[in-house]
Amino acid sequence: MGNKLWEKKYSVNADVEKYTIGKDAEMDMYIAKYDVIGSMAHATMLESVGLLDKEDLEQILSGLRDIHARIEAGDFKIDPGVEDVHSQVELMLGECGKKLHSGRSRNDQVLVDLKLFIRAKLEETVHAVKLLFDTLVSQSERYKNVLMPGYTHLQIAMPSSFGLWFGAYAESLADDMQLLLSAYKVANRNPLGSAAGYGNSFPLNRSMTTELLGFDGLNYNVVYAQMGRGKTERIVSQALASVAGTISKLSFDCCMFNSQNFGFIKLAPQYTTGSSIMPHKKNPDVFELTRAKCNRMQAIPNDILLITNNLPSGYFRDLQIIKECFLPMFDELCSVLQMVKDMMEKIEVNEHILDNPMYDAIFSVEEVNRLTLNGTPFREAYKKVGIDIDEGRFKADKTVRHTHEGSIGNLCNDKIAAYMDSILAQFPFERVREAEQKLLACGASK
Ligand code: ARG
Repeated sequence: MGNKLWEKKYSVNADVEKYTIGKDAEMDMYIAKYDVIGSMAHATMLESVGLLDKEDLEQILSGLRDIHARIEAGDFKIDPGVEDVHSQVELMLGECGKKLHSGRSRNDQVLVDLKLFIRAKLEETVHAVKLLFDTLVSQSERYKNVLMPGYTHLQIAMPSSFGLWFGAYAESLADDMQLLLSAYKVANRNPLGSAAGYGNSFPLNRSMTTELLGFDGLNYNVVYAQMGRGKTERIVSQALASVAGTISKLSFDCCMFNSQNFGFIKLAPQYTTGSSIMPHKKNPDVFELTRAKCNRMQAIPNDILLITNNLPSGYFRDLQIIKECFLPMFDELCSVLQMVKDMMEKIEVNEHILDNPMYDAIFSVEEVNRLTLNGTPFREAYKKVGIDIDEGRFKADKTVRHTHEGSIGNLCNDKIAAYMDSILAQFPFERVREAEQKLLACGASK
């Protein structure tokens, strides 16, 4: 009792209080640091437009810096009965905190917190994706001459190679990076000043907070700024889900290729788990768990879609629930990326898969092409080789001469890496980090 920002002459029912606070004490810990940074920008702006005097501002900034330090030190929590992080920070500031909330609402406060959180977490994710990308490219180069069967319908089809296999997942991550970049750009616009979702009569300087926080620009329209809640999380989670989709497919390949019936790859024994009854087992549990985690992550954009789908414009408490599926998603994905990178570095590849005559038929198209180049029309050559195979006369010539872009003999990994680099160069990480550091240092020496 007595710790609600909005409490007046009556206290809310205890069960209702518990029900509406829900998991915020846990969830808001993810965004606590960013709540403080957002408040520093807001306070600085309030002083510049005459809504705080210099002394108030100094007190507020110094209080916020202390809270920030406590958060960084792991010495911050949301007290029982305090509704959320926004309330906790304001209450901790004491007397000077009472002047901080002019011209804003928790609605734009949580919007800005989420956006700052998303920026920081996307930066971590981008680095983790890039590390896995680099591992895949280097494994692709290392094993570019090791052939393996390619499949369609899970039937042996054409010659492929470990160069192609590793490199395919690297290129997939480059396209996923494109989505991470778009998500970053959508998130990196300033909603602060939209208040409850309709602006207000104070002469706020929204361009100033935009610059202080290192945003690319504003969510101009205050109603749209509020509509960004849920939409931003959905777009960002879609980009993360795209990375998860790549990893999930890779995990399935690894489980399958590691099976004795394929025997294409071998996982380092320290990266497998045993069985309680079968002494011979070295199971690929890591990839199985990875696959399940990635599949679960791919459901999150749908969760967010359903939570938000039938809401009209304006704030609703429904939006609070999004935090529960969205906020933990980044750490989950980053731990998956880290684990998969380690696994891919240590993977052993079988250099002699194609010695087994069961794969000879994958060279049928090579033979058809050879005959075609020697003047036999393609359809006739195709028929001849088909009949030779059916009648047991086909002799596989296992030399492959694939030279076009992106094929076994011309992987274009340098081009794929250049594509990745061109996307990475567009993230404004440094500018954003500098802005936040400048804000945190603001008035520190006073
Ligand atoms: N915990 C709330 C949320 O995440 C904060 C905003 C509260 N706003 C309100 N109008 N009740 O949405």
